[in-house]
Amino acid sequence: MTATLLAALTVSAQKMPMMEYVDHLMSTMTLEEKIGQLNLLPGNDITTGAVMNSPLAQLAAEGKLGAVLNVKGQDKVRELQRVAVEQSRLGIPLLIGQDVIHGNQTVFPIPLAQSCSWDIEAIENGARIAAKEATAQGINWVYSPMVDIAIDPRWGRVAEGAGEDPFLGCRIGEALVRGYQGCYGKENAMACVKHFALYGAAEAGRDYNTVDMSRVRMYNQYLEPYKAAAKAGAGSFMSSFNVVDGVPATCNRWLLTELLRNDWQYDGFVVTDYGSINEAVVHGIGDQTVTAERALKAGTDMDMCSFAFFSQLAGLLQAGRITQSDIDTACRRVLEAKYKLGLFDNPYRFCEPERLKTDLYTAEHRQAAREMAAETFVLLKNDGLLPLKKQGKIALIGPLADNRSNMVGCWSTGDTPELYSTLKEAMERAVGDKARILFAQGCNIYADEATQNGASFGRPIDRVDDGQAKSEALRLAAEADVVVCAMGEMAEMSGESSSRTDLSLPDVQMNLLKELVATGKPVVLLNFSGRPTIMSWEAENVTAIMNVWFGGSETGDAICDVLFGDKSPSGHLTMTMPKALGQIPIYYNHLNTGRPVPAGASGFLKYQSNYIDERNEPLYPFGYGLSYTTFEYGTPRLDATSMTAEGGLTLTVNVRNTGGYDADEVVQLYIRDLAASISRPVKELKGFERITLKAGESRDVTFNINVDMLKFYDSDLRHVAEPGDFEVMVGGNSRDVQRLTFTLR
Ligand code: BGC
Repeated sequence: MTATLLAALTVSAQKMPMMEYVDHLMSTMTLEEKIGQLNLLPGNDITTGAVMNSPLAQLAAEGKLGAVLNVKGQDKVRELQRVAVEQSRLGIPLLIGQDVIHGNQTVFPIPLAQSCSWDIEAIENGARIAAKEATAQGINWVYSPMVDIAIDPRWGRVAEGAGEDPFLGCRIGEALVRGYQGCYGKENAMACVKHFALYGAAEAGRDYNTVDMSRVRMYNQYLEPYKAAAKAGAGSFMSSFNVVDGVPATCNRWLLTELLRNDWQYDGFVVTDYGSINEAVVHGIGDQTVTAERALKAGTDMDMCSFAFFSQLAGLLQAGRITQSDIDTACRRVLEAKYKLGLFDNPYRFCEPERLKTDLYTAEHRQAAREMAAETFVLLKNDGLLPLKKQGKIALIGPLADNRSNMVGCWSTGDTPELYSTLKEAMERAVGDKARILFAQGCNIYADEATQNGASFGRPIDRVDDGQAKSEALRLAAEADVVVCAMGEMAEMSGESSSRTDLSLPDVQMNLLKELVATGKPVVLLNFSGRPTIMSWEAENVTAIMNVWFGGSETGDAICDVLFGDKSPSGHLTMTMPKALGQIPIYYNHLNTGRPVPAGASGFLKYQSNYIDERNEPLYPFGYGLSYTTFEYGTPRLDATSMTAEGGLTLTVNVRNTGGYDADEVVQLYIRDLAASISRPVKELKGFERITLKAGESRDVTFNINVDMLKFYDSDLRHVAEPGDFEVMVGGNSRDVQRLTFTLR
């Protein structure tokens, strides 16, 4: 294209409607250029899959590249964009993708932790900030939200999602889409909903493993968050690595076209996950010609890192196996995304050098991250020890106590650890000269990391001699008034490709914890983790336990805010914490079975659904989390005992802060369909409200119950509410609820 024609197109982009603009542009494109738009390759500045040789600049100049990922730095992005825009025939700008999962330079808590805040507004604001920082660095497309429901904590990627509940998952997915995308201003990025679909149901929690489930379960338990994010207007979707009904998601026409496009009316574009078209070959459905053909026909628009569309589509077209319109449809969707982002108006829209100085790691962003982190910590046990007083001697012990790089957690591709405080530094600041912090690392993460199947965890922690380190820790504990243990996982022990078969505190840490407890000193365990961990011994023996997940760049200060009582803990679990590994998968919204253990029964019951060696109950249920105060729930009231499909009901409950601290509570509403055409879960979250109550204050919380909250997918996958009796439950977690019944007439 001549420079003049390009200029005409560029200038007119602002004025021409999207369809018309893209039509016009496509009418000037060659087949090669169209296929080029479907090609997404890595810059390898960050590694998130197999490193591949990709001559980005050359391909961009030739118009054979639609998008890049893992290119780091605004100057690099600008240069690539310049090549694409100034050197290629048509000057089509690139999408610049990256895994901006929970913040950028200001790192927010890992997504699983964020979900434990149940603070939808704060989560949306976190995404807005993440997009602002990412776009300041040239990124215009973020690979988030990850809305995969997961009920198996062996799967490391539970860290990246919102836990086990579809209702909460929907609200969080929508909030993240809104936060990232806003109205596609220059501080907004396009969201990418992943991993479509069912990736979180990998068998045995082993990453990339087989998924197989009934349609009824899919629709009722797993699909809703993807749908909600689609309806919230997410610009793109990423297909998953796994099979759905035996067909790799990337090549699954039912999933990507019938469900996503036809049923849900989704109009964004679909990208594969890293190398998925090639992995479909390994899944065993044919060679690359077959998988490229099937992926395109299934509804995949862009190929991430398989180079398969690039290599195969022209030949497939010539052979008559795909049509020109198959290619055009995909190309159009990619171009529409670029149009929505305003890249045709200004390809350098996200490359403003001044923003690097003003938009990153600002005081406002750090404050938001710190406040959010404090809301994510879940207090699991407290025998009157917390909050700590800033006095005397506090022994701070553990491999995560003075480490700078691990606090941020997995998928922190924009972090700058040298800017962040360690927990030790934050604690020293917090106590000033009122108390003394006695620090010892105490042990390694594992006695011998090499025993961990050869895994390397990245973000290493200095290795110490376990024997010597333990003696030092015990010496300090003896001298101290209280012991604070910072123990758990390293950041990279959860996230992608980080499945575990043992979910307890790793060996040497457990040994050290036991010896510290044996000193008789009160012990606080701060558990750093990207997943639910099994802490049955700890629950019996440690004075206080707070799960702090990975809290992001401001972890240190946020922990101090809560530990010393400036804020009361308010996080509530969004994944059930098992008591024993053998209970997994364990989740609150299960079916009743024909032989449930009756409520209140103790001990093993022959011929009932239970274990001979362990109770069914988890250690801590979904929705659980303590506070420094206590909340008392009044008797809930319904304004009627029956409703019609057109009408509704309201449930009101009074919640009183009966303790001595101002604090937040998450009031949760659950519903059970007592008799339906298919067996329905014993309870399902249908509403929640996070409220703030001053000490002594009380408030009525009201939930409106409508027919949509009673609907489910029946055996014919019709979304129905069936008349009959329902139980409605309200409480501060999924176990301790008060129940009422009503009828849908
Ligand atoms: C992950 C995705 C990620 C992609 C790009 C893949 O390995 O599964 O979640 O967005 O890489 O980095």
